[in-house]
Amino acid sequence: MRIGVLTGGGDAPGLNAVIRAIVKHGVGHKGWRVLGIEDSFNGLFESPYGIQEMTLQSCSGLLSRGGTVLGTTNKGDPFAWGPDKVNMAPQIPKAMAELGLDGLIVIGGDGTQAIAQRLIDETGIKCVGVPKTIDNDLSATDRTFGFQSAVDVATEALDRLHTTAESHDRVIILEVMGRDAGHIALHAGIGGGADCIVIPEIPYDVDLLCAKIDARRAVGRFFTLIIVAEGAKPAGGKSGGYKRKHGKGVVRVGGPGPALAQAIAEKREVDVRVTVLGHLQRGGSPCPYDRVLSTRLGVGAVDLVEQGRWGEIAVLQNNEIVGVPIRDAIATYRLVDPEGEMMRTARAVGIEFGG
Ligand code: F6P
Repeated sequence: MRIGVLTGGGDAPGLNAVIRAIVKHGVGHKGWRVLGIEDSFNGLFESPYGIQEMTLQSCSGLLSRGGTVLGTTNKGDPFAWGPDKVNMAPQIPKAMAELGLDGLIVIGGDGTQAIAQRLIDETGIKCVGVPKTIDNDLSATDRTFGFQSAVDVATEALDRLHTTAESHDRVIILEVMGRDAGHIALHAGIGGGADCIVIPEIPYDVDLLCAKIDARRAVGRFFTLIIVAEGAKPAGGKSGGYKRKHGKGVVRVGGPGPALAQAIAEKREVDVRVTVLGHLQRGGSPCPYDRVLSTRLGVGAVDLVEQGRWGEIAVLQNNEIVGVPIRDAIATYRLVDPEGEMMRTARAVGIEFGG
C-alpha cells in the first residue's frame, strides 16, 4: 500500500501529530509507504510535484510541533485554480498514478473535505479524511483537534487580562476566533472566568452587557472581562466588524470587539480596551489533549484505509474513533446550542450573554 497524506485549509495545533501517527502506524506497523503532499492538493499538480517521503525518522519530534511540515493553504481549490480558475482536478489522478499512490489521507476542515468529496465523485480517486478546525464546528465529531489548544490560549489570555483589568478598573474585551460558532468563546469564557460571553448564536443587546458592568460596580467589582467571538453581532444589527471575500472565495469574519467597545463607551463612563487574539490561537504546540486526539485520529484514518473504507472520515463519537461518510460529515455545522448544558452552566454561574 502506498498512500499520500496532505493538510489543507488553515493550520491547527495537532496537524503534525496526525501526520506522525499516520506514519508510525502505516510505515512502522504495516510496512506501507507514505508520501507527504505539500501545500494541500497543490503538490499533486504544481510542477515539479511537491512530495516528501515520510519516514519514521522524518517524523521524529512532530508530536509537539505546531503548524504542518507539509505546508497548507486555504486558497487551493484544484477545480478552479489560480486567477484564471483553471480546472486542475484531472491532473490529480494522473499524478497519483505516476507516484503509485493507492489513495490519499486528507487532513482538513469542511472546505478541504468538500474538495476531497468532489474529487472522489468526479475523478474516482480514493480518499479517507481526518477533520481539522480550531472552531470545533463540525457536527460529525464530538471534538476537532486544535480546539482545546485554542481554548487554552484564550483562557490564559483572560487570566492575564484579569489582573490588568482589575488594576485599572477597566472593561477589557477579548476577541477570539471561531468563524460563525461561539465554542472557543464559550469554553474559554467559562474557563477564564469571563463576566460576559458574546457569541454569534445569541445576538447581543449592549444594554444587558452594560447592566452587568453596573451590577459588578455596585458590589465593588470595578472591572469586567468580556470575551467576544469574531462572528458576534448585536441584535437587529450588523457586527460592526468585517465580513468579506478574501482571495478566492474565503470568507473572513472579525472585528466585533472594537465595535462592542465603542457601543459600551457610548453608554457608560468606563475605560474600555480590546485585545484581538488572532492567530496566536492557531500557532504553537498542541496541548496534551490535542496530541492524544490527533494521534487517535491518525491511527483511525490508517485503519479506515486498511479496511478499504474509502470515502469515510475518522471522527470522535462517544469517546470512540469511528468512520462516517465524508459527505455526511460536511453536511452540517455544529453551532453552540443556546439551550444546551454548557450555556445553562455558564448562566448558572452568573455569566451574561447579552441576550
Ligand atoms: O477556521 C479556522 C479559523 O481560524 C477561523 O476561526 C478564522 O475565522 C479563520 O480560520 C481565519 O483564517 P485565516 O488564517 O485565513 O485568517
